[in-house]
Amino acid sequence: MHRLPTLLSGIFLVFLTSWLGLVAYPSLQLGRLTPVADADNGGSLPPTYGGQAIAGQRIYATEGCISCHSQQVRQTSITTSDVDRGWGVRPSVARDYLRDSTAFLGSRRLGQDLSNVGVRRPDAKWHFIHLYHPSAVCEGSLMPCFSDLFLVRKIQGQKSDDALNLTGEDAPKDGYEVIPTADAKNLVAYLLSLRHDYPLPEAPVKKNGAAK
Ligand code: HEC
Repeated sequence: MHRLPTLLSGIFLVFLTSWLGLVAYPSLQLGRLTPVADADNGGSLPPTYGGQAIAGQRIYATEGCISCHSQQVRQTSITTSDVDRGWGVRPSVARDYLRDSTAFLGSRRLGQDLSNVGVRRPDAKWHFIHLYHPSAVCEGSLMPCFSDLFLVRKIQGQKSDDALNLTGEDAPKDGYEVIPTADAKNLVAYLLSLRHDYPLPEAPVKKNGAAK
């Protein structure tokens, strides 16, 4: 029983070291990061994004997109870097996530990394069709359909401007149209806002071989 104080001190030391390593040190290192000035337009970087994209971030979370997509352009990997794959112009850094209430870093990559999908795929209409039926725009896609984010409704008078341009088996019955719900619109606004293509002091963007 006289060893109890030693045992308790040991347990305390283990918890203290973990807390120092996992909480205190990272918070000292990253906790004071702030946005930096954007020399191009007088704003700040990382850029802020609007209410629709913030609402879309919640749909991204509830639909479980993170189970197949990461949002971090990695420096190196075993074979090729993410920049070589065309997933970004520079590796992601901690400051990139300052505007996010939750950073969807993700670890599984059944689909591409989405950190820069807003640059790579800037067309909202493409995203709507892709979410409704991925194989319609990416042959043999393994991504599940998110058709619950859309409404099939009878055309009233004129076809809606929002109606998806679907062909073949995906096309709705005559007199009907498929339109995105508010959730789908918010989600796509979020996807289009995903772009880590600006330079930061610790992550310059190389243009024509020279750091910008
Ligand atoms: C079961 C895995 C899985 C889930 C869950 C999933 N995806 Fe995908 N995603 C993929 C695969 C595989 C691809 C590549 C084929 C394709 O483009 O359809 C892909 C491709 C994409 C692309 C195209 C990226 C590019 O660079 O062309 C976008 C955008 C995308 N997914 C968004 C989403 C969103 C948003 C969600 C959640 C609503 C989601 N994905 C959920 C597997 C998944």
